[in-house]
Amino acid sequence: GVQVFNRIADFRSWRRSILMNGQTLGYVPTMGALHAGHIGLAQQARKDADHVALTIFVNPAQFAPHEDLASYPRTLQADLNKIGELPVGTVSAVLVPQVNEVYPNGIELEVEKQVGAFVEIKGLSHQLEGGTRPHFFRGVATVVSKFFNIIQPDHAYFGQKDVQQCVCLKRLVQDLHFPIELHICPTTRESDGLAMSSRNVYLTPSQRKHALVLYKMLSSIESDYRNGERSRERLLSKAMGIYYAEEKQVAALNEGWNMKFDYLSLADPKTLNEKPEAIEGGCIASLAIFMGKARLIDNFLIDCE
Ligand code: PAJ
Repeated sequence: GVQVFNRIADFRSWRRSILMNGQTLGYVPTMGALHAGHIGLAQQARKDADHVALTIFVNPAQFAPHEDLASYPRTLQADLNKIGELPVGTVSAVLVPQVNEVYPNGIELEVEKQVGAFVEIKGLSHQLEGGTRPHFFRGVATVVSKFFNIIQPDHAYFGQKDVQQCVCLKRLVQDLHFPIELHICPTTRESDGLAMSSRNVYLTPSQRKHALVLYKMLSSIESDYRNGERSRERLLSKAMGIYYAEEKQVAALNEGWNMKFDYLSLADPKTLNEKPEAIEGGCIASLAIFMGKARLIDNFLIDCE
């Protein structure tokens, strides 16, 4: 069966036994509330490695004080059941550590007083998601570094859904010489196109329906690009037209919630800076929109990797 560890030391002795047997380890970091996107990462990992380890840890350092740390879905038993129902051997170990063990000096000290060791990816953390969430990637890079040191995987798996996270973590592995091969897996979507996310549980049925606007906007950019459109302004303004129409529909519903636009970007896949007037050589199209209180993100890679 699946081994579940709460203590880092216990995980480490399991990890040593894997190493002694000459077997390889694939790793999937998560914040739990597992869905088919997370499971897909684990299944991909099992194709490349003898064993797969998963962490479930809602990382306080990547949430700002006004964000949803307290209400973030925590569904540990359901998560463990989902993992248990996978074909035998898909996942070998799950580490579910305590906040105080991951942050041995206390999370308050690290987050509020900024005392201790942190990892920052300068130049790739302030745009896009970092524009709205300035400390987010520092929290992510710090916790992922901690887990890379704890898990010591040969391979690690991340979802394209969080494209800036992927770009930052590739840089982390390169710059800090982690001996780990990163794998970026495609975004798992609902049948209508909505990107799977742990935060989708926040959506009311009506919000869920209108949440498709993200996919519609990205699809419009992709198909216009395929048809030869290269003007940044025209690609963006057509997608924004789709947004405004949906926002108007939602306002007319009078249900007491609104859509709120956060950003829409056509960025260079290496620098994450906005592409100039003419989009040549592809780009990352990405966006964030509030559906009521839920903040949703999505992206398409347009003619790039
Ligand atoms: P979380 O949102 O739980 O996501 C864990 C991993 O699953 C990330 O690599 C994410 O990109 C991937 N993922 C999420 N939704 C996906 C989807 N629809 N298709 C494919 N992959 C998907 O991302 C985090 O947690 C945290 O920032 C973490 C890396 C664990 C650090 O705390």
